[in-house]
Amino acid sequence: MSVCENWAVIFTYLFLGTCITAYKPVVIIHGVLSGNITMLPMAERIKQAHPGTKVYVTDKFAGFSSLTPMWHQIQEMGEDLMKISADHPEGINLIGYSQGGLIARGILEQFPNHVVDTFISLSSPQAGQYGTKFLHLFFPGMVCHTAYELFYSSIGQHTSIGNYWNDPHHQGLYRNYSRFLPYINNEVLSSQSNTYKYGITKLRKLILIGGPDDGVITPWQSSHFGYFDDNEEVVELRGRKAYVLDKFGLKTLDKRGRLTLIELSGVSHYDWHTNKTVIDKYIVPFLS
Ligand SMILES: *[C@@H]1O[C@H](CO)[C@@H](O)[C@H](O)[C@H]1NC(C)=O
Ligand SMILES: *[C@@H]1O[C@H](CO)[C@@H](O)[C@H](O)[C@H]1NC(C)=O
Ligand SMILES: *[C@@H]1O[C@H](CO)[C@@H](O)[C@H](O)[C@H]1NC(C)=O
Repeated sequence: MSVCENWAVIFTYLFLGTCITAYKPVVIIHGVLSGNITMLPMAERIKQAHPGTKVYVTDKFAGFSSLTPMWHQIQEMGEDLMKISADHPEGINLIGYSQGGLIARGILEQFPNHVVDTFISLSSPQAGQYGTKFLHLFFPGMVCHTAYELFYSSIGQHTSIGNYWNDPHHQGLYRNYSRFLPYINNEVLSSQSNTYKYGITKLRKLILIGGPDDGVITPWQSSHFGYFDDNEEVVELRGRKAYVLDKFGLKTLDKRGRLTLIELSGVSHYDWHTNKTVIDKYIVPFLS
């Protein structure tokens, strides 16, 4: 081997070494009525594509305990995320699937000292949920238009899903009773409102993934922060008050080119986190 080739080998080692250590750790939060097991294939896929990546899959609130109120889950998982942050001051990336994406957003707002660089929200009801398919997963006999009677009560608020039930026909009750969604959206102002916004605007990238064949998130545009108006017509993200008034930083991110909306058809709600095309083409490339 010539001297020149030797140098090429050494250079390659150094270069790969740099690449391997360069991927930021990834934290993954699972959806409702599931647990860490469901997210392990995604974790493996990320490690295959980006060797050396540390991937943390939360083992908290699996199965029925995923119905624990949102703030409680956010507090516990947020403390874990802050411990990981402390170990990785260079930054981490965060992925939340379904309800897990809403928990993730709550963590970013409630723990504004986080070091999250990129947050990927994978088919999460970020603007809330108002649909029969979703409702019947938990309450098979319940009717969508009367569900508010349960959810907008102190008992109904003891479940995570009540915390982000957003009935477009009962917005007054929603604001008065919901203890979670109107707060993190800064629809109801609190002493925390500025902090909440700061936790979002400091992100380098916010990626929102969803699509029309989801079948569970209703309206599916909620995964992009779109939502029903009081005629049940969908208002897209950029037409909504939350965006126009920049209530919690979406417009700020968008103006800085930090917000990416991805719409994919042909993916059902139960397939997003295992679909290899979705992971390889729309998740992995954002994890640097
Ligand atoms: C998954 O979570 C359970 C607790 O819910 C835990 O006992 C187990 O070690 C976790 N497995 C992995 C691979 O993280
Ligand atoms: C919400 O609370 C306010 C203040 O207590 C009250 O005036 C209003 O009537 C309530 N709205 C509904 C729909 O309950
Ligand atoms: C996987 O995702 C692609 C879109 O990115 C979609 O066309 C395909 O139908 C999906 N497959 C499954 C099994 O969900």
